[in-house]
This record gives sequence, structure tokens and C-alpha cells, in this order.
Amino acid sequence: VNVKQVHRTGFHFQPKKHWINGSFFQISISLRLLLLPFYNAHVYSFYIFDLAILLNLSPHFMLTGPMYFKGVYHLFYQYNPKGAVWGNIVWAHSVSTDLINWIPLEPAIYPSKPFDQYGCWSGSATILPGNKPIILYTGIVDPKPAQTQVQNYAVPANYSDPYLREWIKPDNNPLVAANNGENSTAFRDPTTAWWVNGHWRILVGSRRKNRGMAYLYRSRDFMKWTKAKHPLHSSAKTGMWECPDFFPVSKQGATGLDTSVVGENVKHVLKVSLDVTRFEYYTLGTYFPKIDRYVPDNTSVDGWAGLRYDYGNFYASKTFFDAGKNRRILWGWANESDTPDEDVQKGWAGIQLIPRSLWLDSSGKQLLQWPIEELETLRGEKVQMNNVKLNKGDYTEVKGIPAAQTDVEVTFSFPSLDKAEPFDPSWETIDAQKLCSLKGSTVQGGVGPFGLLTLASEKLEEYTPVFFRIFKAQDKHRVLMCSDATTSSLKDGLYKPSYAGYVDVDLANKKLSLRSLIDHSVVESFGAGGKTVISSRVYPTLAVFDDAHLYAFNNGTETVTVETLDAWSMKKPLMN
Ligand code: FRU
Repeated sequence: VNVKQVHRTGFHFQPKKHWINGSFFQISISLRLLLLPFYNAHVYSFYIFDLAILLNLSPHFMLTGPMYFKGVYHLFYQYNPKGAVWGNIVWAHSVSTDLINWIPLEPAIYPSKPFDQYGCWSGSATILPGNKPIILYTGIVDPKPAQTQVQNYAVPANYSDPYLREWIKPDNNPLVAANNGENSTAFRDPTTAWWVNGHWRILVGSRRKNRGMAYLYRSRDFMKWTKAKHPLHSSAKTGMWECPDFFPVSKQGATGLDTSVVGENVKHVLKVSLDVTRFEYYTLGTYFPKIDRYVPDNTSVDGWAGLRYDYGNFYASKTFFDAGKNRRILWGWANESDTPDEDVQKGWAGIQLIPRSLWLDSSGKQLLQWPIEELETLRGEKVQMNNVKLNKGDYTEVKGIPAAQTDVEVTFSFPSLDKAEPFDPSWETIDAQKLCSLKGSTVQGGVGPFGLLTLASEKLEEYTPVFFRIFKAQDKHRVLMCSDATTSSLKDGLYKPSYAGYVDVDLANKKLSLRSLIDHSVVESFGAGGKTVISSRVYPTLAVFDDAHLYAFNNGTETVTVETLDAWSMKKPLMN
């Protein structure tokens, strides 16, 4: 491949080349047509070859007690060994001791048996008692267009190999097939198993017509699985549920929990990846293990009005419990927003975003996320800014760090909220992304828009603004956070959405904080300490390498102060 790799990321997970994660073209198209009435126009324009999944297993993850499996993290991800488009999917395998530096190994699972000869799709790992990892994954047993899906297992060939390089797929596979009325071509992505009351449980993502659902299976021995009478959960008109994830979070504090923990002190999270919009949604709720029912809280809704881990380019994520550091880690994939031709030219497509710690907010109504602390080991030179006032129209450059590969944390303050623009009640019916497309960073406001201009060219021909705008609604303030790719590149033919989400934050101290991880073609931003997260993929033509700049800006009538800003250059880790 003979292109200048201006968009290759410096510190995000990528293999050396080719496609990571994946979708299946056929099913996507037909499902999209089927669900056309539920589409938003912007979503429809989303590329359909872009999907994917990554799976992860930390051998730190143990059923009970603090245990260590030779201190190694494993990442398994959907990979095309033959090219930069989706196809020929295998489970590629990399290992790490810090989730930041990665060593590539041979693929762990690849098509070779009747029960997976047309593809080894997503799944999950579980650690069985005795420190024995086992993988459940979806095998494709026949060619397109059917692509019938079954659930298989694989186990390490040699448990004492610290890297678990070789995996065996025993002949009693598949463990689970669609033979009780399930839709066999929409039946995939088994979860990590959890154990309560003498049985293992897993979910398998599916749909019945347009009703998305998570089938529940139980087993005593992990080999013989029986479908429960009721799915754990389902929701009308949401289409196929890909990559379901179901896990407990503590009601108190940020400590992560093993997947099998149940009881008074936890809430449960059910996350699904909605194939139709390529976005992920989660609910918080209560799991009743005796009857195997999950009931979302009344503050948590299913479907497209629901909560999201990330209001940008983030899909097919999984969490796992890291018993080494007692935290739950969320890891998601971001596809490209350029064209397949460009991906072929670049020779690669897809990245993993930075792994995030995830825990319950003290309100109990949403999750919080923060980049894992290990990322900070990549921080190099640091620049700072303190008490810089930004009047309407001001922007100030953050100088002295290479702005194309940066970690920046900033706290803005404002003297009052009096000038906040009124929130037009008609905006209740449009989503945050639509509102951001109407109220971009150059549309003057009252309190805000203020924030960062990332991956900016010197004369601002190109920039990706990440910013807040505060509105005054009837009874409270509404904070909109945007990561707007509209102006990110002079190039045409790219997908440049105005990603946005609301931030449910207390403004009593008149401050808002923002952290952005900027890495050549990705900007990953955490608003208000991880209450709202947005990731954008962007492809600047001028704002590349040393020609990329970073600014703080304000375009509201109220003066805003950059109280503190710290920005670090980011070193390159060992990356496959
Ligand atoms: C997620 C997904 C999964 C499937 C895999 C195929 O994007 O479509 O549902 O198992 O990717 O690569």
C-alpha cells in the first residue's frame, strides 16, 4: 500500500493492516429495508459494510475471588486476514499486560469445521472454575444468503501457555442451534456466562420479526444448554440485537464486579447493539435471578430514545471484569467514516477506541466512563493554561504539543447562567444530533458554544469542534455536548455527522469539564467527568501531523474562562 498514512492512529488499537471487526452485508441490507420506517435520514447514509465486533477476555476475570492468570489481557477481534473490507472473519488475537501495548499472535479461532466453516463471528469468554477460560462464539454453517448461525465453544489447547495461543473446537459443537422457533439467520453473539443458583446463563442476540430480543439459555455443565421459556428481555421495533452484554454494577462507588454477582447492592446493565442504526443502547435495571427476569428502571428506556455509552462512532462493544484491578472495562470499536475505496488504499479499516472504566453514577440513572489509567503512561510533554478568559468570538491556541496526537483535559467556568438561550420546546422531538446540526459551533449562543477545536488547520479551513451549549428549559438547564465532523475535512464523500448528546450534570458550581483523546483520525471526548461520551472519526487534509492545531474557543455572549487546561503529547505504544 503506497499511501501516506496521515490518518493511521498513533495510540489506538489496530492490527498492522486489513479490516477489523465486521458485519454481514446481506443481512444488513435486507434488515435495513425492512426497518426503513424507523430510519433517520442521517443514519441511512451510514455505510453498511462498516459493522463489527471485538471480543475480549481477561484471564484476570475469575468467577470467584481475586485471582491472576499470569497477568495477561487478551483481545480477540473480528478480522479479515485477506483485506480491508469485511469478510473471511476469524478471531484475531493480541495480548497485553497493560491494555495499551499489544503483541499480535496467530488467530485463535478460524473456520475449519462444519459448524463454523463460513465464519467465526462474535462471542465472549468466560473463566470456568479452576481458572479455565472457555470461549463461546457464533459459527456460520452455510454460505450466503442463509448464513445460518449456531453457538460453538472453544478451549485452550494448553492451559499452561501464558498466551493461550492455540484453541481447540471440540466435536460436540455446536452447543446451541436455532431449533425452537428462533430465527436461525439472526441468532448470534453469545455473552459471557454468569452463574447463579446452580446454573450458568448466557444470552444470545436475536429478533422475532422486528422485535429485538436477548434469548436466555441455562446450563449446569456448560455443555447442555436449555432455552428459558422467556427471553431475558425484548423490545418491539428495535430490530436485531447484536452483541448483547449483561452485567452488574455496584450501587456504591466505582469498583467493578464479577459478572455473576447478584443481590441488593447491585443494579444490572443490559446493552444491545442495534443493527439498524449502528448505535448501542443500554438500560439500567433490576435482575431477579430466581425468575430470571430483568426489569429496566422507569428512568431507563429501551430503544432509540435510550441511553448510550457513546453518542458517536462506537459499536459492538463488550465489557469484562478485570479482577486484577477490580474494575469493569468497556471496550468498543469504531469503524471508518471514509469510503471502502479509501480503506482499500489505506490498507486498513477499523480501530478499537481506548478501553474505559465504567461504573454507576451516584444518581443511579446512568453510567460513567473514563479512559483506563494505563493510558496516562503514554503521556509525554505537557503544556498548561490557567485562567484564560474567552470573550465572545475568542479562540486561543494550545501551543507546544503535537496536536494530532494528544490527550487534553480542560475545565471551563462561567460567571452565570442568566444568558443561557431558551430551549425551544419543539426541540424535545428532535434528537441531540439534529439539534447540534442546527446549532453548530459557529452559531452564536448565550452560554456557549464553548469548547475545543481539535484537529484544526492553521486558518481553520478544517476543524472538529467538541463543545457545550447551555440552554434554559422550563424547569432546568439543558446541556448539549457536540462533536461535529461537518467541518472536519475539505474532502467530499466522507461521513461527517454532527454527533451530540445531552449531559445530565449539576451546574451549581458553574463549571464544565472536557477531556479529548485526539489521534489523527479519531477524537474521543468525555464530557463532565464521563457523563456523556462522543467519538468521531475524521479525515483532515490540512490538519495532519505537525500542521494540526488545537484551540479553546467561545462563541457565546457570556464570557467563559479556561480555568485549567492540561495537554500532553502522546507516545506511541507497542502496537502489534
Ligand atoms: C457486529 C456483528 C455481530 C457478528 C459480527 C460479524 O457488528 O455484526 O453481530 O457476530 O459482527 O463479524
